[in-house]
Amino acid sequence: MADKQKKRIVVGITGGIAAYKSIELIRLLRKAQAEVRVVLTPAAEAFVTPLTLQAISGNAVSTSLLDPQAELAMGHIELAKWADCVVIAPASADFIARLTVGMANDLLSTLCLATAAPILLAPAMNQQMFAQTITQANLTQLSARGIQLIGPATGEQACGDIGAGRMSEPEEIFSALQQRLLQKQDLVGLGVVITAGPTREAIDPVRYISNHSSGKMGFAIAQAFAERGAKVSLIAGPTTLPTPRNVHRIDVESAQQMWQQSLTLACQNQIFIGCAAVADYRVEQVANQKIKKSDDSNEMILKLVKNPDIIADVANLSQHRPFTVGFAAETQQVAEYAQSKLQGKKLDMICANDVSAQGQGFNAEQNALHLFWHTGNKQLALNHKNILAKQLVNEILQQYQQSQIKE
Ligand code: PMT
Repeated sequence: MADKQKKRIVVGITGGIAAYKSIELIRLLRKAQAEVRVVLTPAAEAFVTPLTLQAISGNAVSTSLLDPQAELAMGHIELAKWADCVVIAPASADFIARLTVGMANDLLSTLCLATAAPILLAPAMNQQMFAQTITQANLTQLSARGIQLIGPATGEQACGDIGAGRMSEPEEIFSALQQRLLQKQDLVGLGVVITAGPTREAIDPVRYISNHSSGKMGFAIAQAFAERGAKVSLIAGPTTLPTPRNVHRIDVESAQQMWQQSLTLACQNQIFIGCAAVADYRVEQVANQKIKKSDDSNEMILKLVKNPDIIADVANLSQHRPFTVGFAAETQQVAEYAQSKLQGKKLDMICANDVSAQGQGFNAEQNALHLFWHTGNKQLALNHKNILAKQLVNEILQQYQQSQIKE
């Protein structure tokens, strides 16, 4: 963020237990030479004090719309015009609802209405509140209006619940801000297809075979390409993740559906990335009706048949073959198995992840990758999937560009 001109950031803090994490966000911004002004909603003052935030940000903290003293120093319209970017972290369900309907009943909501700067929002609330249809509808509307959502993360919450609603970590919010401010649109014209998430292979109308993939890794890669201007098609297995901005999403259920979409799109684009955890097998005969439990037998035998290998078929395209990147989810001999998939499936590159390690891989916020291509390899250390995805995009581009020079 340390470019010629200091970036001017308004950090809005609303009432929520995650408010304390914003102190670290402000510290990261200051460290990156940004100028920071903090706006607190009245509810936020119950969680963090203006005095602390003043000391961390190096500027007076604004708390009230109707404070003549504060208005004299920097009025709310002036503040709205001053900002290069407004980031609200944490954004409570109440604030999100007020922002959606365009209320201006406190300083922060008024500032959001009055600013032309990009607004980033890091929602934080109880998982049930986050899952509510009305909260989801509000977030969809805000996102459609161009407000960038960061997170929330999934995990244990302050109230003891487990689920989606935790505020994203300050490092992730900082990185999103940095990207937004320094956005390079250097990939305009590049077409990328990404598969993400699990597939579901039906057994009968109510049961299926699947796996633990959440889609987070693939969605993060889609977002990282889209932020740099690439045209991204995301073929997603069943997941509840929101669609990243400027990404064309195609929802599928089974491996066969994913295969069909992949083969159609792969030959129209330059890069194909297979991040989905595709079921290797499907049930040969899917029952039309729910299978009843048998009283006579203790076992039920399902006959499985092999699914098409999507990425191998893409890599074997004889015409308009894209640069093809696979993933390898391994629990042992990670490098060895990944390299054999690189060769066996005739890929250009493979990203190996050790899915036996705690806190990474399937349905985790973080991941670590060991990349292999035919002439080299590189390790990407454990990091949040959004940050890792940006690093991975750089590595893929480097190898893709090399491959273009050779052609
Ligand atoms: O979704 P998350 O919760 O964020 O988790 C991310 C992840 C762990 C799922 C991801 O990082 C990952 O490793 N994805 C690939 C998982 C996998 O199925 O690996 P595999 O080794 O079984 O398959 C190797 C490659 O072949 C993959 O690119 C896979 O997409 C592809 N494949 C596999 C089978 C098949 N029938 N068709 C395929 O295209």
